[in-house]
Amino acid sequence: MNNDKFYDSLSVKVLDEFAKKTFGENPPSDLEKMIKYLKPNRQILEVGAGTGRIGIELIKRDFSYTGIEKYSKFLKVFKSRLKNSKFNPKKVQLLNISYENLPKDKNFDFIIFSWTVIGDFSKKDQIKALKKTYNLLSGKGVCLLDNPSKNQEYNKYGSYNPTPFYYDDWKNLLSDMGFSHESKIYKTKTGVERELTILKKRN
Ligand SMILES: C[S@@+](CC[C@H](N)C(=O)[O-])C[C@H]1O[C@@H](n2cnc3c(N)ncnc32)[C@H](O)[C@@H]1O
Repeated sequence: MNNDKFYDSLSVKVLDEFAKKTFGENPPSDLEKMIKYLKPNRQILEVGAGTGRIGIELIKRDFSYTGIEKYSKFLKVFKSRLKNSKFNPKKVQLLNISYENLPKDKNFDFIIFSWTVIGDFSKKDQIKALKKTYNLLSGKGVCLLDNPSKNQEYNKYGSYNPTPFYYDDWKNLLSDMGFSHESKIYKTKTGVERELTILKKRN
């Protein structure tokens, strides 16, 4: 299961409105929360970069950023919005590719699944994606996953059919995969409760 049909028909305007309603703006609350874990001059991979809501903010702050996105229509918007910002092109890579097809030949210091991206994978594919994440992370690497908290319903819109990812349900599996893990519940500036799951490679 995936949300291909949903994203095919989803307009950028609706996506933007949802994001604003969930995280607020200037800066969005999820960026504020995640950025505390990121370090400049380290390689960041964002899975499901969308229209660059988070990516552009990281690029403007001079992070080394690779954004991958399955849908070219969203990536096109990302690129056109990025044109209005000052940045070092040598530190930025934007790829129209799904995570499943991303080659395993590069390591990243940070891998982020912002705004419920992991919910777009089936449970089986979530497991595969997290095992892949383990392999792509450098030794001291950190993975961040931002999702609705257990008290919050996942968005319902059109044919959107996410697979919920609640940290409590994943603790044992994450340990088995070799991660140390924790979660932080936070409230966005628009009053929505979210859960940030933080994964590190256990040494
Ligand atoms: C809710 S949007 C979030 C976009 C962006 N991260 C943000 O926070 O604004 C989820 C994005 O993940 C992308 N996506 C879903 N599954 C993916 C996959 N397997 N590989 C790459 N991108 C994927 C979707 O196309 C969509 O753009």
